[in-house]
Amino acid sequence: MTSPDLIRTDVVIIGAGPAGMLLSHLLAADGVESVVVETRSAEYVAARIRAGILEHSTVDLLRQHGLADRLEREGDEHRGIYLAWPGEKHHVDFVDLVGRSVWVYGQTEVQKDLVAAREAAGQQVLYECGDVTLHDLESDAPFVELVHEGRTVRVQGRVVAGCDGSFGPSRAAVLEGVRTTWERVYPYSWLGILADVAPSTDELIYAWHPDGFAMHSMRSATVSRLYLQVPNDTPVQDWSDDRIWTALAERLGHGHDGWELTPGPITEKSVLPMRSYVQTPMRHGSLFLAGDSAHIVPPTGAKGLNLAVADVGLLAPALVDLVRKRDPRLADQYSDAALRRVWRCTHFSWWMTTMLHTAGDAFDTQLQLSQLRWVASSEAGRAGLAENYAGLPIGF
Ligand code: APR
Ligand code: PHB
Repeated sequence: MTSPDLIRTDVVIIGAGPAGMLLSHLLAADGVESVVVETRSAEYVAARIRAGILEHSTVDLLRQHGLADRLEREGDEHRGIYLAWPGEKHHVDFVDLVGRSVWVYGQTEVQKDLVAAREAAGQQVLYECGDVTLHDLESDAPFVELVHEGRTVRVQGRVVAGCDGSFGPSRAAVLEGVRTTWERVYPYSWLGILADVAPSTDELIYAWHPDGFAMHSMRSATVSRLYLQVPNDTPVQDWSDDRIWTALAERLGHGHDGWELTPGPITEKSVLPMRSYVQTPMRHGSLFLAGDSAHIVPPTGAKGLNLAVADVGLLAPALVDLVRKRDPRLADQYSDAALRRVWRCTHFSWWMTTMLHTAGDAFDTQLQLSQLRWVASSEAGRAGLAENYAGLPIGF
């Protein structure tokens, strides 16, 4: 048997999504080397459709690290969102309430900007790897083995960062008996569309409706992104373009106070399941989890990428201290520190989801409407939503 090709580095990063690429960027800024390993092709990773909201602290972090030039040019700063239900529509102004805005800038674009920045800096990324396995995680010389371009490769580091999303091998590499998982599955999914039509709203609309939740988001001045609550396992073919636009108009309040939804050509349609999932701890020996490998949130509130960025904002300085100064203090605190925010966002996403989606229970309906009225009419209610939506500071 031939021995594997050996690559040595400081940090082996599994996964070239937003968490992995941002981590490689922040580590490099402090002189820590990394190698990123990824199962998919560069094209696939760059094109994946993602949500569209960046919270305040995400934008701050991207700015601090020179990653926000295109965001500043092409992104759109929003003061808040609209909450709607039949006969009602209320603006929740985050800037007035908590002094923080959010940015509408496709997370797909963030990924492209990260890849471009890492390519320009000569980052080593091994795309299209097969058979990725993790080894010796309880030592200080862990390694990842994989097959790349037909050869077995061993990438050895001081630590491994598991940024490989919810289907990657890292989360399962935390041993049974060590890991605990918490999960909530919801009895509904989202049908998401992209349409070549100017948005019919200046800011996002989140709408409760007895037929189910609907949302109007956007990608640019000419591209809209909209969602409808549908039952789990709904085949996308059940929803013709006409049926989608009719349901969106009804649920989003077309006609109320003269507001109109303008339909347009649909360019993409898909059904997205929803769940909440947290795995703890986020560190096991030399393995550190960040992003979707440790937690999944339902998309109501758009926390997925923002949470991944917040994890990496804590993990990067911890790994810099560990690798360069042999100082383990921040690394030892990482899991607890990250999980504080993870649970806050898990709660917020669950709260938004269960307030806005209908599950057919008449008692729940009354509670939801009462909650919506309170949030919309009380400054404390609005401020709570605003503080969580616009995002708590890094390190919360
Ligand atoms: N080996 C290497 N890479 C892997 C493996 C594996 N065995 N399995 C999965 N991956 C890769 C995936 O192909 C993907 O590119 O890991 C990457 C994980 O990326 P994401 O799933 O995007 O997760 P993350 O980087 O944590 O992003 C967080 O961004 O846009 C949001 O909603 C998205 O919540 C998500 C968030
Ligand atoms: C999106 O634009 O895709 C989006 C925005 C807000 C959400 C979820 C998705 O809560």
